[in-house]
Amino acid sequence: MAGALLMLGSCTQNKEAAIENIMTRTSIRQYTNQPVEQEKIDIMLKAAMAAPTAVNLQPWHFIVIDDKELIGQLSSQQPTNAPLLIAVCGDTDKTTMPDGKGKLPDFWIQDVSAATENLLLAAHAQGLGAVWTGVYPIPERTAEVARVLQCPKNIIPLAVVRVGYPAESPAPKNKFREDNISYNKFGGKK
Ligand SMILES: Cc1cc2nc3c(=O)[nH]c(=O)nc-3n(C[C@H](O)[C@H](O)[C@H](O)COP(=O)(O)O)c2cc1C
Repeated sequence: MAGALLMLGSCTQNKEAAIENIMTRTSIRQYTNQPVEQEKIDIMLKAAMAAPTAVNLQPWHFIVIDDKELIGQLSSQQPTNAPLLIAVCGDTDKTTMPDGKGKLPDFWIQDVSAATENLLLAAHAQGLGAVWTGVYPIPERTAEVARVLQCPKNIIPLAVVRVGYPAESPAPKNKFREDNISYNKFGGKK
């Protein structure tokens, strides 16, 4: 009984911590020069790959970039002092239905986006700061990132996430709006 109560207590605590982590995440664009430990990178990648995907195809690939020269090349339009980038890519070779019924439509975009958000949340939970920079579907940007990272045709960069220890502490934005919600039909009230 005591064990069950303890477990319930820790579930409640975990739930509060999980929601708190979601609600306090905010984009961080300035970083200290402290490198990001490999254990923390591994946790971000595990969290990213825990995301849901259509037909559980997991059509993704992650490129971890800590080479300063490459970071500079990938950030030429929006310079950064991030010590680490993670390019979150779709892998269109992994979008074939397992029963041989052909290719799924473009669900990979949603799958890879879900992975990207998980990655951001895992960064924040570990005391890191991160920001999603958009790549796909801007053709020039997608081609440029793919070129710099030497991606084969099937690997499509969707986002480049900048990661590091925060050197700024912006307040999380409150984006909750009742008028974004309907019940039962568009415009329906509770
Ligand atoms: C698809 C997408 C593309 C984004 N691209 C950029 C970007 O190129 N540069 C940037 O500084 N932030 C970028 N962001 C971050 C947004 O500006 C940020 O999430 C938004 O302003 C809300 O702020 P918050 O993340 O602090 O809640 C992007 C976010 C998303 C989801």
